[in-house]
Amino acid sequence: MSFSHLHFEVEEHGIVLITINRPEKRNALNQATIAELDVAFARVESDRALRGLILTGAGDKAFIAGADIKELAETSAAEAESLSVKGQNVFRRLETMRKPSVAAINGYALGGGLELAMCCTVRIASKDAVLGQPEVKLGIPPGYGATQRLPRLVGRGRALDMLLSAEPVSAEEAHRSGLVNYVVEKSELIPFSRTWLSRVLANGPLALGLTMQAVDAGLDSGIDAGLRFEAMAFGLAAASDDRAEGTRAFLEKRAPVFKGR
Ligand code: COA
Repeated sequence: MSFSHLHFEVEEHGIVLITINRPEKRNALNQATIAELDVAFARVESDRALRGLILTGAGDKAFIAGADIKELAETSAAEAESLSVKGQNVFRRLETMRKPSVAAINGYALGGGLELAMCCTVRIASKDAVLGQPEVKLGIPPGYGATQRLPRLVGRGRALDMLLSAEPVSAEEAHRSGLVNYVVEKSELIPFSRTWLSRVLANGPLALGLTMQAVDAGLDSGIDAGLRFEAMAFGLAAASDDRAEGTRAFLEKRAPVFKGR
């Protein structure tokens, strides 16, 4: 699959490495890149052979330095609202695709860059990464989900601190607040991300999808709805080949071979 602003590479174990490729613009997300991400996410979502993804940025400076400010500067009020909705829908596709994803944050993750990273299942940052929501400095609020996802990840107080001060945080600070799951040496970023994802993908595929959905069902709709979803998911999984294989493999003291059915 060929793109102008992305590299889309299928690796071992059905892992897809998506690299935003506008390093001369610090991988800023213009509309053309967001449209390509939509196609890339749709492909990962619909192809059973593709099982998880790593998202990173080209070059050694930036993961993604935010939405493209040149484009933003030229939008009317009506265009800006629809641009926000369009981007939100693309980001949401990543967040809800029921396949694990890693944001491999190799430098600046600002504005829309951090917003996209927050849609991934986990965030792994290189030691020199810098994360922030600087939108208010430009006289705009965030438009791709930060007002909703940042407080869910780090709590209301820390989120408002970052959102209103516009001050970025280091990878270590982001790790302390739970915004980032792991901090690694830059040279280790992609290998570590691959290892994390391969380890996750060795588990039952149906169980992975159902677990991700159950977590979000509860966070989105409250604990009662979440617990109802969890019980249904537990029941559904009991009818699967994956559960039969997983439990049998344990009892036979061997590694399971899951089929995702
Ligand atoms: N949108 C559009 N272009 C951007 C951009 C963005 N979000 N971020 C960087 N660029 C462009 C710069 O305009 C510059 O283009 P030019 O070479 O044509 O002048 C190029 O990328 C390099 O940027 P530069 O600022 O020189 O790189 P740097 O390494 O010194 O600094 C950043 C990197 C990320 C700290 C800095 O570019 C920055 O603050 N970007 C904006 C971040 C932001 O506010 N994001 C939120 C957007 S809503």
